[in-house]
Amino acid sequence: MSRPQKLYVKSYGCQMNVYDSRRMADTLAPLGFVETATADDADLVILNTCNIREKAADKVYSELGRIRALKENAASDGRCVVVAVAGCVAQAEGKEILRRAPAVDIVVGPQSYHRLPDLLARAARGRVVDTEFPIEDKFDHLAAPTRAATRARGLSTFVTVQEGCDKFCAFCVVPYTRGAEGSRPAAKIVAEIERLTDAGVREITLVGQNVNAYHGDGPDGLPWTLGRLLYRVAQVPGIARLRYTTSHPCDMDDSLIAAHRDLPSLMPHLHLPVQSGSDRILAAMNRRHTRADYLHVIDTLRAIRPDIAFSSDFIVGFPGESEDDFLASFNLIDEIGYASAYSFKYSPRPGTPAAELPQLPDEVTSERLSRLLYAIDRQQAVYNARCRGLALDVLFEKQGKLPGQLVGRSPYLQPVQVMAPPELIGEIHKVTITDLGTYSLFGTLARAAIRTPELAATGV
Ligand code: 5AD
Ligand code: SF4
Repeated sequence: MSRPQKLYVKSYGCQMNVYDSRRMADTLAPLGFVETATADDADLVILNTCNIREKAADKVYSELGRIRALKENAASDGRCVVVAVAGCVAQAEGKEILRRAPAVDIVVGPQSYHRLPDLLARAARGRVVDTEFPIEDKFDHLAAPTRAATRARGLSTFVTVQEGCDKFCAFCVVPYTRGAEGSRPAAKIVAEIERLTDAGVREITLVGQNVNAYHGDGPDGLPWTLGRLLYRVAQVPGIARLRYTTSHPCDMDDSLIAAHRDLPSLMPHLHLPVQSGSDRILAAMNRRHTRADYLHVIDTLRAIRPDIAFSSDFIVGFPGESEDDFLASFNLIDEIGYASAYSFKYSPRPGTPAAELPQLPDEVTSERLSRLLYAIDRQQAVYNARCRGLALDVLFEKQGKLPGQLVGRSPYLQPVQVMAPPELIGEIHKVTITDLGTYSLFGTLARAAIRTPELAATGV
């Protein structure tokens, strides 16, 4: 009997890549591929790449340099290592990757992952590139995970419901690499989630590049909004928590807002990137909304779900950003009172409109980034400090670093560390927050009763 082939998949970038990496592993499993944690002993290495900023794309080439050495070492031991580049760099650069990186055998774009078994067979005869947008739906052809694989991946998982983007923000490469918006049919998403919860998954995050533009076919023959989908998914037995990411402020429609009012399992946390607090820059970015529009969405959500927490992405140093424009972003952090936020230096991406504009000097951008990071950290500390003394529902996910410690998340996505027995993994318990770390909270188990939303709804 031949030995199982080892597969190493490394994922860069967003949660959609994490999801795709798992589906690639599931699709290769029937061919005898078993996942391994390092590239060192792998027979097939897949780098699932991100192209959102230059730094992310550059990382791929430095990793490919290391993998080339590894491949040569393996070859001198008579072992053949196949190297595939997947994801958004594959889509954007295609054949160019073969030219720059001699170790690469396969380049595969995000819409063609279901063709991996065929690409592997073809790679035995020579290097292959597949960056088409095929007619067939890859989701219909990617294999589902086994129960064992699902369990090994933990209790909280991502499910892609939507891909691509039609918004064309002036800085963003996504509409070019991931293509036009497309949504999976609701019934297929529900069936996938039923399989996951049946294998023990408790928390599902619906993901999409522009998830709240979801408009998949419903079983009633009508297009469903994300709100409508969430109402349906919330009925799946075993679901304790629901989240979705990443959203655009213009697509927060009434059904989605109502879902935050009506669904106890929909967590009171929303990642709603604003990118800039300045109307001038928002217009230059082609964001299609103003600062006031954004604040209105936040106010509407707070009116129906007062404890809802927000996080955001900010870009600093977009072409033409003045000190006043920057200060408008800076001020928004306190004004909204974010639970957390990410900030990025603007990175000109080839083919996007903003890359053609005159760029700001790097010193200006770097200095603004450090001021913004400081403001974000300070705001996050303020937010977390408000949680001290509160009893929060924590879904325990895994063992912590210390013996006897468990780690879970609050409804607001904060990591919470608690001394608690391992039997509580997979359950939701009240935790009284006693201490604050830099990015996580510490607490004590408030009481032993299990308070999943289903049980809470029945008054247990
Ligand atoms: N430069 C810097 N940041 C970017 N993002 C997207 N494109 C760029 C770019 N060209 C950021 C946005 C987005 C997040 C995923 O990445 O803030 O919300
Ligand atoms: Fe990129 Fe804008 Fe689409 Fe988000 S909404 S993926 S930032 S183009």
